[in-house]
Amino acid sequence: MNATDESSSENNNSLFPQIRCSHPDAVKWNGRYQSDGDYRQKGHPSYMLQEFVHLLSKNGVVLDAAAGVGVNALFVAQQGVSVVALDISEVGLRLLRQRAAELGVGVDTAVFDLTQPYFPPNCVDAILNFRFLERAAFAAYRQALRPGGLLFFETFVHLGEEETASYFLEPGELHTAFADFQIIHSAETEVRGQRSGKMRHVAQLIARKPEI
Ligand SMILES: C[S@@+](CC[C@H](N)C(=O)[O-])C[C@H]1O[C@@H](n2cnc3c(N)ncnc32)[C@H](O)[C@@H]1O
Repeated sequence: MNATDESSSENNNSLFPQIRCSHPDAVKWNGRYQSDGDYRQKGHPSYMLQEFVHLLSKNGVVLDAAAGVGVNALFVAQQGVSVVALDISEVGLRLLRQRAAELGVGVDTAVFDLTQPYFPPNCVDAILNFRFLERAAFAAYRQALRPGGLLFFETFVHLGEEETASYFLEPGELHTAFADFQIIHSAETEVRGQRSGKMRHVAQLIARKPEI
């Protein structure tokens, strides 16, 4: 099968016939969400986010980076906070928008590649990064947050046995990367995996960008 055949056959199955995103991450995640997106939407918002959501300003704008089907973005929107959900997967974002309509909340969405991020400086009040790691985004998050803005970050920590170590934080890495921020919450702990039900080792961080 040549490239043209491949894109047209993918296109026939796509929820988005007008978009042909061939980025490998998009192909992988679009496939996952096409096969079990409804199941993934039944996941719960991060417990850390639920505990600290009161820190988000109702007048602010929150970016959910790598939002997927939006369990966290939708939870924040339900608290009356404006959310923009970014993801490489247009299928995930489509499911997110459908669910937002069912819940009667508004969430803006955009297809966005976090391996090549650019955000205007000082433009958002908070950034959520859950169950996703792209180190190239760290500097972009710093730039995008307004002074005093909040970073909510939770993802998996490498304990030595995982095959794809680049998807995992090293122990202590997250805290060190944002050590110049005001740390509100920082922990490395076990949380129950949404799909597997197994305990997973994660790093959690809530940190405030310094005021100028
Ligand atoms: C494990 S899911 C996490 C989704 C959501 N944050 C959550 O916690 O439920 C990882 C997400 O990262 C997105 N992703 C993968 N590579 C990406 C990239 N290069 N740019 C933006 N998003 C990406 C996937 O499409 C997927 O939705």
